[in-house]
Amino acid sequence: MHAIYDDLGGSDGVRTAVTVMYHRVVADPELAPWFEGVDTDRLKAHQRAFLAAAFGGPQVFTGRSIPEAHGGMAITDDAFDRVVSALMTALADLGVAKEAVHTVGERLEGMRGDIVGA
Ligand code: HEM
Repeated sequence: MHAIYDDLGGSDGVRTAVTVMYHRVVADPELAPWFEGVDTDRLKAHQRAFLAAAFGGPQVFTGRSIPEAHGGMAITDDAFDRVVSALMTALADLGVAKEAVHTVGERLEGMRGDIVGA
């Protein structure tokens, strides 16, 4: 994962990738039902969780587990795909190597069962 971090230009680059990703997520009408009205602090927590999950960093969130956080939200496979691909697209747009983007995707894919239909 260190290589992805370097590819992105360290923590500033990572922050840019997540910001770009989030613009895509909140602009996607198919995802609006889940993100509308979620307050800024929660969205920031979500961004940090994504970083930790995608790059294998330390778990920076201390609150609920992933299944708890998404319980009762009826998240669909399609919504999951859209959120994950928003991050992968952001990484690719920023010039991260294909293989590294693929690794991130696989890492997030492993969490599908904890999120979809939680
Ligand atoms: C691998 C992908 C994902 C990871 C690692 C992840 C991680 C997290 C974590 C850790 C939280 C809790 C934050 C906290 O309570 O401090 C959270 C909350 C949330 N997640 Fe996700 N998430 C993922 C995918 C999704 C998807 C696909 C959706 C919707 C389509 C979604 C929607 C939300 C929302 C709306 C909240 C805030 C709920 C609230 O606090 O009211 N997440 N996520």
